[in-house]
Amino acid sequence: MFSAYCLHVGADLSIGKVTDSGNIRCAFHGWEYDGESGQCAYLPSGDPVPPRASLYRFPVVERYGIVFAFNGLTPRFSIPEFDHPEDSLVLKSGTFADRFQVDPWVICANTPDLLHVTELHQFDMRNDPYEDVTWQDYSATFPIHALTPAGPVLDIRPEIHGTNLFHQNGTVDGRWFGWSTWMGIPTPGQTTVFYTICARPEPDETPEQTGEFLDYVLNLEMSIASEDVPVFAGMHYTPGNLTRGDRVLARFFEYLRTFPRSHPSADFLN
Ligand code: FES
Ligand SMILES: [Fe+2]
Repeated sequence: MFSAYCLHVGADLSIGKVTDSGNIRCAFHGWEYDGESGQCAYLPSGDPVPPRASLYRFPVVERYGIVFAFNGLTPRFSIPEFDHPEDSLVLKSGTFADRFQVDPWVICANTPDLLHVTELHQFDMRNDPYEDVTWQDYSATFPIHALTPAGPVLDIRPEIHGTNLFHQNGTVDGRWFGWSTWMGIPTPGQTTVFYTICARPEPDETPEQTGEFLDYVLNLEMSIASEDVPVFAGMHYTPGNLTRGDRVLARFFEYLRTFPRSHPSADFLN
């Protein structure tokens, strides 16, 4: 994946085209970039190619039916894994129908916001997650063991990776499932949420029965997420009034503030 903007005067290359020879051709003045290296290869004006005109080339990996790109030249961390190998899972990936009108970090901050778990989601907690938060350079995680208001018992380990990946392994009423939401930022202030839900076929279970379980856990997670949606829609955070019960959230804000910028143009971007 290449950086989006033409190095001439900045047109969006996505409205250009790919030539028969595989070059990316800008719609504005026709500069062409090599489709493999991103190096500028041709100027229709006949002027010499500026030697430093090379698009950034971002690493890309496909997992769970979703294409991930790292917003830097070298990935700082891997795409998180489920507890079981991908080829042993029944897996479904998709996209939330509506964009969220907030940046991905606001949605990620929902996970370490422990107070809302009992207030908004009405979880009856069976553990104390405050005691068991694991912080790493590029991730944070803690366990939740809770009775949900609809009845199922969740024993899960939510994780945040980077500033826009939510990932979770765990069980519902004792059966394992995985659930992740991957957040893309189509434009500042908006988030497109992709998801992956997965399960393992039980012995003697038909594919239809596994599919029913997958739909069941997807509906359960979507129903929990739907409680957050109206809150995100009107979110307007001002620093200064976090209390002791918000200490994991406060630490997460610090994690966000100090998260290293990876884009090769970071020094020039606001
Ligand atoms: S902006 Fe792309 S060729 Fe001029
Ligand atoms: Fe939530």
